[in-house]
Amino acid sequence: MAISPILLLAILSLIYGNGVLPIEATHHVYRNLQTLSSDSSDQPYRTAYHFQPRKNWINDPNGPMRYKGLYHLFYQYNPKGAVWGNIVWAHSISNDLVNWTPLDHAIYPSQPSDINGCWSGSATILPGGKPAILYTGINPNKHQVQNLAIPKNMSDPLLREWVKSPKNPLMAPTSSNNINSSSFRDPTTAWLGKDGYWRVLIGSKIHTRGMAILYKSKNFVNWVQAKQPLHSAEGTGMWECPDFYPVLDNKGPSTIGLDTSVNGDNVRHVLKVSLDDTKHDHYLIGTYDIAKDIFTPDNGFEDSQTVLRYDYGKYYASKTIFEDGKNRRVLLGWVNESSSVPDDIKKGWAGIHVSFDSSIS
Ligand SMILES: *[C@@H]1O[C@H](CO)[C@@H](O)[C@H](O)[C@H]1NC(C)=O
Ligand SMILES: *[C@@H]1O[C@H](CO)[C@@H](O)[C@H](O)[C@H]1NC(C)=O
Ligand SMILES: *[C@@H]1O[C@H](CO)[C@@H](O)[C@H](O)[C@H]1NC(C)=O
Repeated sequence: MAISPILLLAILSLIYGNGVLPIEATHHVYRNLQTLSSDSSDQPYRTAYHFQPRKNWINDPNGPMRYKGLYHLFYQYNPKGAVWGNIVWAHSISNDLVNWTPLDHAIYPSQPSDINGCWSGSATILPGGKPAILYTGINPNKHQVQNLAIPKNMSDPLLREWVKSPKNPLMAPTSSNNINSSSFRDPTTAWLGKDGYWRVLIGSKIHTRGMAILYKSKNFVNWVQAKQPLHSAEGTGMWECPDFYPVLDNKGPSTIGLDTSVNGDNVRHVLKVSLDDTKHDHYLIGTYDIAKDIFTPDNGFEDSQTVLRYDYGKYYASKTIFEDGKNRRVLLGWVNESSSVPDDIKKGWAGIHVSFDSSIS
């Protein structure tokens, strides 16, 4: 259905009038447009190949994983409209990372630790093959905290239902840990050290120093903050959606991916962060000292102009997974196609995901 000029005028006046609130987290908040749905049949810009739901807004890919041969992709999704808002973890499955089938929403606000929002996070496959999701919840005080969800029924290959830990939140800003409750989000996939401790990173900042806060746990439920962040850099602002993984250190280009917990000789590490200030995904290559839990990049953020980016167009909030069996690492990220809000509402959707595969180089 085409939008009538009068409706369009009404929309424009909402956008340029009182409807726009300043930024909440990363996204503009268009309160009055969050539940305005349209089903346009004229869709010249829909992609034939990249991931996108049938309609509405998407942003970050969340918790991608392969389970019993099926790919699972969760994503920040507004079920009610084509601008950011009402965010849930929508869920789709695929055999080939190209053709996707949507399932019911997997994670949505339901307990105090996420009652004001279920934001980005990652999946970790625990020993024995059991997936666990860590994600950011927004609590009744609008503080950002980290929560755990696990599959309700491990025999369901589609992993349709997820249950949240009654111990949530597992990581939270407190009066003693000096964590900014508005800047504490997006847990990574966890990795396991030889000492038996799981490690996970949470994006954060103190003033303008961006950082990846490190937490450790033996049982994936009780998490203790490390004394220092894994890495931080002055002047970079908020680090969203960190991603941290090993790569093979050989001379030429390598197509082989490594499991997230691999370390040792011939291994280097990549730390990727999504800079909220610039809206780009930057990455550093360096050395990870797991005894000290410190990452030292070869070249850091001192000159942010020269820091490598995954992509030099629009590419943000990306995340990788290691695919056992195929020995490859797959990267998925959000492309914010940046059409105007009236255009998004007219076409009925916003955002696509684009993925890359280390075995194709
Ligand atoms: C778990 O999933 C399996 C496979 O879909 C199904 O047969 C079984 O009934 C489910 N169990 C429960 C308790 O829902
Ligand atoms: C905490 O984060 C919020 C949101 O970005 C920011 O407005 C505030 O200045 C931060 N406080 C400090 C001490 O960094
Ligand atoms: C997405 O595009 C809009 C419109 O161009 C822009 O305001 C916003 O900052 C972009 N966000 C990201 C993460 O690229």
